[in-house]
Amino acid sequence: MASGNGNELMIKDDIFWIGGDDRTAGLFEGSFPVPEGVSYNSYLIMDEKTCLLDTCDISVSAQFWKKLRATLDGRKLDYLVINHMEPDHGAAIVQVIETYPDVIVVGNSKTFDMLYNFYQLKPTNTLEVKDGDVLSLGRHSLRFIYAVMVHWPEVMFTYDEKEKILFSADAFGTFKALSGSLYADEIDFERCYLDEARRYYANIVGKYGAKVQNVFGKLQGTLIDMICPLHGPIWRSQSIGYIMEKYFRWSSYEPEEPGVVIAYASMYGNTAAVAERLAMLLKTKGVRNVSVHDVTRTHPSYVVADAFRFTNIVLAAPTYNNSLHPAMSAVLEDMGIMAVQNRRFSVIGNGSWAPQSPKIMEERLSAMKDMTKVGETFVIKSSMRPEQSEDLAKLAEAIAASL
Ligand code: FEO
Repeated sequence: MASGNGNELMIKDDIFWIGGDDRTAGLFEGSFPVPEGVSYNSYLIMDEKTCLLDTCDISVSAQFWKKLRATLDGRKLDYLVINHMEPDHGAAIVQVIETYPDVIVVGNSKTFDMLYNFYQLKPTNTLEVKDGDVLSLGRHSLRFIYAVMVHWPEVMFTYDEKEKILFSADAFGTFKALSGSLYADEIDFERCYLDEARRYYANIVGKYGAKVQNVFGKLQGTLIDMICPLHGPIWRSQSIGYIMEKYFRWSSYEPEEPGVVIAYASMYGNTAAVAERLAMLLKTKGVRNVSVHDVTRTHPSYVVADAFRFTNIVLAAPTYNNSLHPAMSAVLEDMGIMAVQNRRFSVIGNGSWAPQSPKIMEERLSAMKDMTKVGETFVIKSSMRPEQSEDLAKLAEAIAASL
């Protein structure tokens, strides 16, 4: 066993977590707020041959190097397996190769194309692997499983046949930094991480549900005792079924539970008032799960995540320059990109003289796959009139009945 590093970082005999937490991150991928941070996981196998599985993001580079050097404890690095080339895992590749010039870089043909495109790097020592190829490190044999488009085309999983560990790249990962524990089964994952895990899945991998399902097919019959993702906690035997079930549901675009996400944009509070009133009406009709977002203040990724979670979507927005309020337009853009589908939707529009927003929202939602409209589109002109109360109650009734 390697010395110089705490045993708490050894996740199995010979295998170490050498990642780091970033709690200062601004926008993940330049797009997604991560107010609770994010972890970048990297793993090192200390066998007869030493093998590093992915590197890290630049933000945790110091943590990564400290752990890597301490765990290697003077040994050289024999292999660097690149499961995913995205720079949040590849930022240290160049320095690793410079530091360990004999290292053999393991990847597939797309990996090496990307290595050149990102870093103009053509390593001297490479091992190009095909789907299903096996590499022996001594006691451990690593099988490579292509996982195309989970999340990029070069992605592959690495399976340790001795310990039955799946190194799963981005899959089964989550936003939110680790909080003292490496393992999902040591924390109240549902309370502390599930919302961020869903937001991560829906916005990072959500578009590629069919590809995720393909990989599930490839993994059938493979015994998995541990899943080591590149973000978030590690999954051990008793918790693996939980995250597998979530991923299977998300990737098949099945909602997790009955419920309604109400997302609204409002300029002067009148559209917001209707949305909030609808939420209260739904509650009076016994709808337990109602999630309300003001999209002028909330990042679209939270709405997309709730769209993956719940059965029903309600969008409410004013007309703006004879078109749709731009904040709602951004939400619809993201919902379309991330392939939101198989949901029920309702629309609330506002327009002081020529309401265009209801038509635009309905068209854009209808263009998504397997979407079903619920209730009559509710339109206000500037503000809701008292005589419209009955129609809003009818919309709430229709939504509640559809759950
Ligand atoms: Fe965590 Fe697709 O990178």
